[in-house]
Amino acid sequence: MKQLKAYQPLSALAEQLKQTHLNSLFDDNAQRFAQFHVQMPGIMLDFSKQKITQEVLDGLVSMAEEADLKQWIERLIEGDELNHTEGRKAWHTALRNVSNPVPEVAEQWDKMAFIVEELHLQQMRGYSGKAITDVVNIGVGGSDLGPLMITHALEMQKLPQSPDIHFVSTLDGRQLQSLLAKLNPETTLFIVASKSFTTIDTLSLAETAKSWMKANCQSNCQSQNAIMRHFIGVSANPAKMSEWGILPQMQLAFWDWVGGRFSMWSSIGLTIAIQHGMEGFKAMLEGAHAVDEHFRNAPFKENIPALLGLIGVWNTNFLNLAGQAILPYDSRLKHFAGYLEQLVMESNGKHTQRDGTFVDYRTCPILWGEVGPNAQHAFYQLLHQGTERVMSDFILFKEGQGSDERSTFHQNLNIANCLAQSRAMMVGQQSDDPHKHYPGDQVSNTLLLTRVDAYHLGMLVAIYEHKVFTESVIWNINPFDQWGVELGKKIALSILESIDQRDASELDQSTQGILQQIWEHKT
Ligand code: F6P
Repeated sequence: MKQLKAYQPLSALAEQLKQTHLNSLFDDNAQRFAQFHVQMPGIMLDFSKQKITQEVLDGLVSMAEEADLKQWIERLIEGDELNHTEGRKAWHTALRNVSNPVPEVAEQWDKMAFIVEELHLQQMRGYSGKAITDVVNIGVGGSDLGPLMITHALEMQKLPQSPDIHFVSTLDGRQLQSLLAKLNPETTLFIVASKSFTTIDTLSLAETAKSWMKANCQSNCQSQNAIMRHFIGVSANPAKMSEWGILPQMQLAFWDWVGGRFSMWSSIGLTIAIQHGMEGFKAMLEGAHAVDEHFRNAPFKENIPALLGLIGVWNTNFLNLAGQAILPYDSRLKHFAGYLEQLVMESNGKHTQRDGTFVDYRTCPILWGEVGPNAQHAFYQLLHQGTERVMSDFILFKEGQGSDERSTFHQNLNIANCLAQSRAMMVGQQSDDPHKHYPGDQVSNTLLLTRVDAYHLGMLVAIYEHKVFTESVIWNINPFDQWGVELGKKIALSILESIDQRDASELDQSTQGILQQIWEHKT
């Protein structure tokens, strides 16, 4: 990144802008909002509360051009092998081309549609002949977070014929245990969702679900197949699904060219299709596809994901901000920040450039977030008066959840609070009492969408996916691998062995000490 010609001029501009309060950028330019907002149908990005001038914007766009962003976008959407460290494409955009799908994708839609219809018509029946009433998605990371986030957001709009949907992910087994206590095995269907079908978190939970099923249907079940009718598998590894016992007709596929954190658009999104029908699922794909087209065709100065990415680079590498807060003003987006934590930090939390050399600049900031109105009463204090400079994304919807008087009242309150917070962070407040002094000058974006529905959520997620990709191009890193998560998994297996053998002598002192205390407690 530092070798790009635009880097030095941008650094010089950053030095000036670090000394310039956001307030004066507004005072000096009556056209600031007009100049620094962009939109496409369904979504508007206001970046006027960023420390950006026309010169900075021009410099960032030059940097994108120099880094060949246009060409990289083409390669992404054309399905080139961009994930070079794993020798794979990163072709999630091919999953959402509803009007012109690749044949293998369309084939999986047909299989999903069949399952969805069977469930909706109450024709999918368990071992005792009763119809399925509850569906439990067992998966973790990309095999959990996207469908969890979307089905939670759209729960109020679910089809009346949809069974209830539940998610379990944590390998401690607690979520599953408390859920099983409430469910009836005769009417429960598990979706074992795992791209690799080797993830211990998911397989250990699936085994527990299988034991529960077996224990309950012992006398009723004539065959092992009767139990396995309660398990759907979704994976890019059909051999492993079969080995685990998933029946061929209960298997849904996706492919190694779909990254786990980009997989909610594939059959991993089955729970979304169950809750909203294939029509609802495809509306989400269409929203994402509209963003793909925009990302591919809009000039960078009007390109929402490209601009968000360039603003991210500006804040991270030039203004030295290391924190990114995600603040949706709609409680239906309760799981959105969690979803982005994986998408953003598993993608760009990297220190190695594409050619294997280490970066000598910052990459991904630390991202966290919470539904705005709750976050106001939790961590906004730090945003207003802390010593860390943080960039925030406010996400707001024009429409609330209903049009009756109380709903309108709540939505107006919500809008007022969202705008008040981004304004307070920008403007600050002078006071003679140092405890009441707000410096302001905290930068933010506001994304304004029409409403919370499948189409707009598809847009929102695709915007962040492409933002992440834009940043990765400038940082010259591969956003599609995740080697950093492997070491911990390997060590966990060896510690599990030590626990089984009750011998920690090969481990470090701290690990030994902690295990010793646990063992002493148990005995
Ligand atoms: O450990 C990280 C990870 O590989 C993620 O990238 C992935 O989404 C998650 O684990 C789950 O993997 P799988 O879908 O293969 O079970």
